[in-house]
Amino acid sequence: MNVTKDHLSSNPFREGLRLEKTPEPCAVVIFGATGDLTARKLMPALYNLFLERLLPTGFSVVAFARREKTVEQFRTEMREAVSAHSRTQPLQAGVWRAFAEGIFYHRSDFRETEGFVGLGQLLNRIDRERGTCGNRIYYLATPPDCYDDIITQLGLAGLVESPPRVQGQVPDSGPGGDDQTGWSRIIVEKPFGHDLATAHGLNEMLLSVFRENQVYRIDHYLGKETVQNILIFRFGNGIFEPVWNRRYVDHVQITAAENLGVEGRAGYFEPTGTLRDMVQNHLLQLLALVAMEPPASMEASAVRDERLKVFRSLHLPEPEEIAQCSVRGRYSEGSLAGLHVPGYREEPGVAPDSTTETFVAMRLRIDNWRWADVPFFLRSGKRLPKRVTEISIQFKRPPLLLFGEAGRTVEPNILTLRIQPDEGISLKFGAKLPGQSMRLRSVNMDFHYSTSFGVQPPEAYERLLLDCMLGDSTLFTRRDEVEAEWQFVDSVRLGWQDTSTVPLCEYQAGTWGPDESHALIARDARRWRRL
Ligand code: BG6
Repeated sequence: MNVTKDHLSSNPFREGLRLEKTPEPCAVVIFGATGDLTARKLMPALYNLFLERLLPTGFSVVAFARREKTVEQFRTEMREAVSAHSRTQPLQAGVWRAFAEGIFYHRSDFRETEGFVGLGQLLNRIDRERGTCGNRIYYLATPPDCYDDIITQLGLAGLVESPPRVQGQVPDSGPGGDDQTGWSRIIVEKPFGHDLATAHGLNEMLLSVFRENQVYRIDHYLGKETVQNILIFRFGNGIFEPVWNRRYVDHVQITAAENLGVEGRAGYFEPTGTLRDMVQNHLLQLLALVAMEPPASMEASAVRDERLKVFRSLHLPEPEEIAQCSVRGRYSEGSLAGLHVPGYREEPGVAPDSTTETFVAMRLRIDNWRWADVPFFLRSGKRLPKRVTEISIQFKRPPLLLFGEAGRTVEPNILTLRIQPDEGISLKFGAKLPGQSMRLRSVNMDFHYSTSFGVQPPEAYERLLLDCMLGDSTLFTRRDEVEAEWQFVDSVRLGWQDTSTVPLCEYQAGTWGPDESHALIARDARRWRRL
């Protein structure tokens, strides 16, 4: 391999991991490889893993797609995609050449049995020539309506090594496919179902061909560096956990705001909406990491058990409660960063009478001993003033205010976990203003990833792809988690069926959502943080 010295990584985020384990040689088959996800996320992530020497020897990618293309054409397109979207710039020509030698293109329809037989032959050839040892990861990067065909054909073509799960068998958490002929794993992109029934159906389908420990359901938020740090922050430090409960926490706010609109994804977003797109997965996972109990160990099954317990403790709102605890909104035309932007219904591909929500705000209850009576407020929306995701833990006020009027002006202590951008953590507390009088002001104690570590954290997809190669499913959602998330979302949607109870409220693009969202939190005598 022709590589330059700066190819060697000095990234501390990676060094620990690298010392721990190196993946076994394997090939990744990407179904739907001519789509956006491959160009924007998967190929740049794999290239960066290769650049940092985290991929195993002989690592190969097979692009499986319906379009007619030569391997050379595909490699050229991927080179352009990686140049445009890689987090490390510029693309290193020598590294790219070595990486691209392992990229193959296989044209087939997802229903053609011969196409899958051909895929098997190609994979066998790659095993012989590049030493991938029969280890395969199948990545479903297609629209979900292709999943059934692909999974069925993989099974029929004998491309999945392990026998199907035995009915009633308890899913185990070890690495998948432990036989002599190599392992096979499957990564499933979101959306994972459309509601509980379809998610359940997809799980059944998957588990008729794969075992649970071979299935990796992606929620890319779990792969974000700052999200992984939530557990380190909570359980790797002694001082926070004692106050992390109903005795000290007043309430929790989780915000995932985007300034973008639907960006040409109306076909996907129209039947989906923010509740399914963001709350069902990303926001509920953030909530689980903040609210969960310490796991028995950092093993995948132990961590996932604790996340699941949070979902199971979520109060499922009754239809008559839904108006009190949820708000849905849709952006109308407005302006962002000085530019005029159209309303959601005017976006290309959106029906003029669309009833899809682009904003959700909710008040959630976690009915367990740690969190009883502590409200969790979530909000997420498109075309909000800026892109920001953060979790803030707001603590109770001191039991007695000793500083008279001066004390009243101080805000409660707030611990903020900034997920993106400006990744970091800050703690707000009251301090005395210098001078002769007793005046108080809120100040911040701040940690910034960029200044403390001086490196750019890896992209979520890098971590997740590598974990799948290593057989570590901690940062992927298990079957029961995903179904519990849907159960909650379905209960909200049931309440939303009566549009007169929870109307779809308009908000101007470039504002922080509809007034009703502010009213929702104000009913609890709290207010959204100004971000
Ligand atoms: C995706 C959603 O899962 O997450 C998108 O489908 C959303 O609608 C995106 O824009 C946000 O991800 P990130 O990493 O940019 O916060």
